[in-house]
Amino acid sequence: MLASLDDLERQALDELAGVETHEALHAWQAKYFGTKRSKGALEQAMATLATLSPEERPAFGKRVNEVKQTLLDALAKRQAAVKAAELEKALNAETLDVTLPGTPPPRGRLHPSTLTLRRIIQIFSRLGFEVYRSPEVETDEMNFGLLNMPPEHPARDMWDTFYTTRPGVLLRTHTSPGQIRVMRERGANGTRPLRVILPGMVYRYEQVTARSEMQFNQVEGLAIGRNITFADLKGTMAEFARQMFGSAARIRFRCSYFPFTEPSVEVDVYWGLATERDRMITKGTGWLEIAGAGMVHPTVLRNGGYDPAVWSGFAFGMGPERQAMRLLGIGDIRYFWQNDLRFLEQF
Ligand code: PHE
Repeated sequence: MLASLDDLERQALDELAGVETHEALHAWQAKYFGTKRSKGALEQAMATLATLSPEERPAFGKRVNEVKQTLLDALAKRQAAVKAAELEKALNAETLDVTLPGTPPPRGRLHPSTLTLRRIIQIFSRLGFEVYRSPEVETDEMNFGLLNMPPEHPARDMWDTFYTTRPGVLLRTHTSPGQIRVMRERGANGTRPLRVILPGMVYRYEQVTARSEMQFNQVEGLAIGRNITFADLKGTMAEFARQMFGSAARIRFRCSYFPFTEPSVEVDVYWGLATERDRMITKGTGWLEIAGAGMVHPTVLRNGGYDPAVWSGFAFGMGPERQAMRLLGIGDIRYFWQNDLRFLEQF
């Protein structure tokens, strides 16, 4: 009787050794341990217990339990081996398709002011202007005094100024103080011609409206030479407008006043009057002011180290945000510094 259990054990272990897949494993398990619906070989062997003599029963029962335990241990080992083999097979069979589209990472983009500044810089570099950077925190002397506006000069009222708690130190109201700095630093004591632009942020203590902000960029331009005339300024502005706004762009010069230029002008570009918004932005004229400009005042040349009897120059200061509005169809200057992603993500 016990020999039949030995046979059962050997047969089961032999079969198990040949099992390679999960399905085969399940079939083996069903055959020896049974399922809900059918009895397995072990249970069937156990059923023969009743046919044995009382003396034979204990040894037989003990052996059945041994066999059962042996098979359970072998099954657990085989299960682990089959699982590892199937994983190995899957890894070998499945390849990564690198041509599938990936998940794009969120990408930053350039601010419309930066885009416009870069365009302006590019145009002027083609015209032979190099970029010079000058500080945003300035002295009263640089921002006003050396630009022909001594203390108490009424023209200082043209710029509503942010002063710091340190006397004589302010946030520059325009990029024009850079004119003095670049003449002194690059002019070699008033012996060298200059052609520079000075881009950067300026600050004004002003009411914020659709057309004016209290911080914005300016691009200052300065050309110094022995024979520079107002015609050079006009030509430079006209060429700039053509490259910036297209060959059909119309500009005009209006007489104006700045203490550091003489004569002084304001440069406008035609915007249009089609909509209510156009009327608001251009104050009903159809024209948008893009720059103040003029011939460098003799006092300013002298403050920069140049002899006004020998040297002359033109200067301009333009607002890139105003131009960005024209180019990109932005109806309100306040969008620029509100950091609203719905606005910024459009560029
Ligand atoms: N600095 C002047 C302004 O901010 C603009 C300007 C620059 C005018 C250079 C003339 C020459 O309004």
